Amino acid sequence: MSSRHEIELVVNGEKRRCAVPGRTHLADLLRDELGLTGTHLGCEQGVCGACTILLDGEPVRSCIVLAAQVDGHAVTTIEGVSAPDGALSPVQEAFCHRHALQCGFCTPGMVLCAGALLDRVHHPTREQIDEALGGNICRCTGYVQIREAIEDVANSAAHHHAGGATVGAGEVR
Ligand code: FES
Ligand code: FES
Repeated sequence: MSSRHEIELVVNGEKRRCAVPGRTHLADLLRDELGLTGTHLGCEQGVCGACTILLDGEPVRSCIVLAAQVDGHAVTTIEGVSAPDGALSPVQEAFCHRHALQCGFCTPGMVLCAGALLDRVHHPTREQIDEALGGNICRCTGYVQIREAIEDVANSAAHHHAGGATVGAGEVR
């Protein structure tokens, strides 16, 4: 039961080749093989959103995607959101400023979803924000500060590269 699939993908702008067993989930590839442990695992059933990554710029739950399925695609994890010099993205800055995280377990998924939303809709309504984050569970904050952080970014001039959501997207040849 150990047939392995050779896959090539772009992770945070860097081309990676991996040989993965057919049943390996993307979250496990990212965490265990590539050391990108900012992708958190909560429910492992596609429910909580903690494992959210961007697949070609769109939020996806990496616990229910097989690694073999992302062959030829671009993945952005939370590690790819900040600038190469470590500077936080506007969304990350706003989360800090608004105290939109406590334990931080949900935060990578929230930041990636928020960045993808702001890349798509520069001035989202409250309803659009709630819809974009509706599948991400936070046990700590009550969501209000998270929404306020996203509204801050939308209201600032910096939102054009809000979440780094397009890092690496479409770069696989
Ligand atoms: S760990 Fe993937 S959705 Fe909960
Ligand atoms: S900050 Fe703890 S789960 Fe959201």
